[in-house]
Amino acid sequence: MKVAIFGLGYVGAVSGACFAELGHEVVGVDVSESKIAMINRGEAPIVEEMIAELTADAVRLGRFRAIKDAASAVREADISLVSVGTPTGADGTPDLTYVDGVVREIGSSLRGTSARHVVVIRSTVPPGTTQRRIADALEEASGEKLGARIHLAFNPEFLREGRSVKDFRQPPFTIIGAMSDYSFEAVAELYRGVESEVIRTDPSTAESIKLLSNAWHGLKVAFANEAARILKSTDVDTRKALDVFARDKILNISPAYLRPGFSFGGSCLPKDLRAMVSLADKAQVAAPIMRATLASNTSHLDAVVELVRSFGRRPVVLFGLAFKSGTDDMRESPFVALAERLIGKGYRLRIVDPFVDASRLMGKNKEFIEREIPHFVDLIARDAEDAVDEAEIVIFGHATAVDKGAILERGVGKILIDLAGDRDLEFCGADYRGAAW
Ligand SMILES: NC(=O)c1ccc[n+]([C@@H]2O[C@H](COP(=O)([O-])OP(=O)(O)OC[C@H]3O[C@@H](n4cnc5c(N)ncnc54)[C@H](O)[C@@H]3O)[C@@H](O)[C@H]2O)c1
Repeated sequence: MKVAIFGLGYVGAVSGACFAELGHEVVGVDVSESKIAMINRGEAPIVEEMIAELTADAVRLGRFRAIKDAASAVREADISLVSVGTPTGADGTPDLTYVDGVVREIGSSLRGTSARHVVVIRSTVPPGTTQRRIADALEEASGEKLGARIHLAFNPEFLREGRSVKDFRQPPFTIIGAMSDYSFEAVAELYRGVESEVIRTDPSTAESIKLLSNAWHGLKVAFANEAARILKSTDVDTRKALDVFARDKILNISPAYLRPGFSFGGSCLPKDLRAMVSLADKAQVAAPIMRATLASNTSHLDAVVELVRSFGRRPVVLFGLAFKSGTDDMRESPFVALAERLIGKGYRLRIVDPFVDASRLMGKNKEFIEREIPHFVDLIARDAEDAVDEAEIVIFGHATAVDKGAILERGVGKILIDLAGDRDLEFCGADYRGAAW
């Protein structure tokens, strides 16, 4: 393919040399004369493993060159990739000035041409930017509606500086946030020869995956450092502890616990986070992440209470009281906390959870219910169907298959707040709301 790349920084320079290696004909565009001159001399404008050789080879073979003139680059190309910088602006939001400028340049350069063209945003931008701001700017500058001749997509870059060529060749996945079939196929074609899973999605999801990834990486680094600082005070060999911790690919480094849903609770997570905070306090070590994790968990509960309140004071049925399904353990159950908040605010509440039937409870849980929430005993509904019929708001935490059936059958017309992300519930005819989706 004939490819124009706008912005020859880390992303653009690496992509240029690597797409040329894949056999594409690449022309780079930058405002910096010196970067243009370097590339045309066969020199990489950045320092990265393997990039000097790749750039020299690509330029020698005539597959990679750089120019300043955006219009001629666009007119010669099938596809324009935008990888200019998006630095943090004064108020913390990304400054999109360079992206806006380049998109307008590409759009106006397409006026008076007739060939199909795909514009691909690779700079990191906030979710919604491509679909709204960039699409509008491109339509205005080109004078054409997108989706006929001119197409738009967002394709994030996941390279790590220092090993970017290796990452280009072996990315975790290739995400194409396509606004049309043609833009998807064109970007997929560009990556032909790179072995990775190609995932098609919409531009906003693709934009959010880039932000999620970097926020997650930052959180992991900060967590490891903070955890090690805390544990060092207990004479633990922190590098060994974190090394073994990371070998658990079932629960620790895995998709487990990464689905949005309701606040965590139960007898272990809150207790052990508090234990970490107390170790930190004793050693006078700052532990903002451990503290903020507990605070964030409470914020999520607050948000669900607010969601319920936004519908006015209607009768509510809560499915699930124990901290998760299949157990009668109610210690620090977030559903108990939710029920208490709603009762406190004067809601008429029924609870469906056969596992916490007071007559069957034993030991610690019986003691817990008698001491902490004796008033809940009267709220437990014996019949899930009646409970759904009587309610206007159904909150789904968890339920047995039979009890869930009552919602599926009788939930039509009710407000259904799904705290579990249960796909079956979405289309049962209720006014479906997610906890955070
Ligand atoms: N560096 C990374 O590892 C990395 C990885 C993934 C995504 N990103 C994202 O990609 C984008 C680019 O990052 P980078 O590190 O390559 O930035 P960079 O600052 O190294 O390079 C940006 C380039 O764009 C050029 N430029 C600015 N305005 C221009 C214009 N009007 N026309 C042509 N060129 C212009 C600049 O001269 C510069 O060479 C950012 O949004 C960044 O967040 C970066």
